[in-house]
Amino acid sequence: MDMSRLDERIAIVTGGSRGIGRAVALELARRGAAVMVNYRSNARAAAEVVAAIEAEGGTARAMQADVSDYAQAESLIKETIAAFGGLHILVNNAGTTRDMVIMMMSEDDWDSVIRTNLKSAFNCSKAAVKHMMRKRYGRIINMSSVAGIAGNAGQTNYSASKAGLIGFTKALAREVAARNITVNAVAPGFIPTDLTESIPENLKEASLEAIPLKRWGTPEEVAYATAFLASDEAAYITGHVLSVDGGMVMG
Ligand SMILES: NC(=O)c1ccc[n+]([C@@H]2O[C@H](COP(=O)([O-])OP(=O)(O)OC[C@H]3O[C@@H](n4cnc5c(N)ncnc54)[C@H](OP(=O)(O)O)[C@@H]3O)[C@@H](O)[C@H]2O)c1
Repeated sequence: MDMSRLDERIAIVTGGSRGIGRAVALELARRGAAVMVNYRSNARAAAEVVAAIEAEGGTARAMQADVSDYAQAESLIKETIAAFGGLHILVNNAGTTRDMVIMMMSEDDWDSVIRTNLKSAFNCSKAAVKHMMRKRYGRIINMSSVAGIAGNAGQTNYSASKAGLIGFTKALAREVAARNITVNAVAPGFIPTDLTESIPENLKEASLEAIPLKRWGTPEEVAYATAFLASDEAAYITGHVLSVDGGMVMG
């Protein structure tokens, strides 16, 4: 496939060891990008992603960093630039859930989800933008969610973090546009991964009712949308939220 090639590009995928991030890392690499696969604790899964990329003839490395921590996020950006010689694409994908109705939600449940899902994007983007501004080129893609658009009961922390990412995307898009840096968000719907494992089976089945395409999405389908936003074909798209949700939330 010649469309949306990413040859000579260098990318970081935060939370690239599993689920959607893994699929994004593989897809960017398939299109020619060198990929830094970031993870927080699952070194074995990250190494497996690197091995899968290398087996297909691509270039990748893995790096542990808790991106909710500014110093670690900054090291991730700096070490990627040092290892590969630059940075063109940043995918802020790392995320987590701590679902609970608000009356049962602890302050730590709130803080930890906001830190992991939202502050991480600030941390990585701040460090990356410094480099991208100088080079007058960049693609930042933030993994939001339908929950950030429509809200989801039992997920006030998660929905707030994902809605926050959309505001962050639009504000940063305006800030850096003059330097040829685009900033967009992807809003996946229901994508079976480790993250959705704990959702009771009956609720998973019920979710199909709300999906016009009548099926769940795949990590690969989210990866295709992400790779498109990272490509030159998407050069005139910025501040956009691209839903990949089977029609779950429209308009
Ligand atoms: N699955 C869905 O239905 C869905 C829908 C909408 C949006 N999303 C969003 O898509 C993104 C990926 O979700 P997923 O379903 O693929 O989740 P997942 O399978 O649970 O994978 C989460 C990934 O994030 C990493 N991670 C978590 N906290 C981190 C931190 N502090 N620093 C660095 N890496 C960290 C994990 O690393 P380790 O392997 O080291 O733990 C793992 O690679 C998330 O932002 C999620 O909110 C998912």
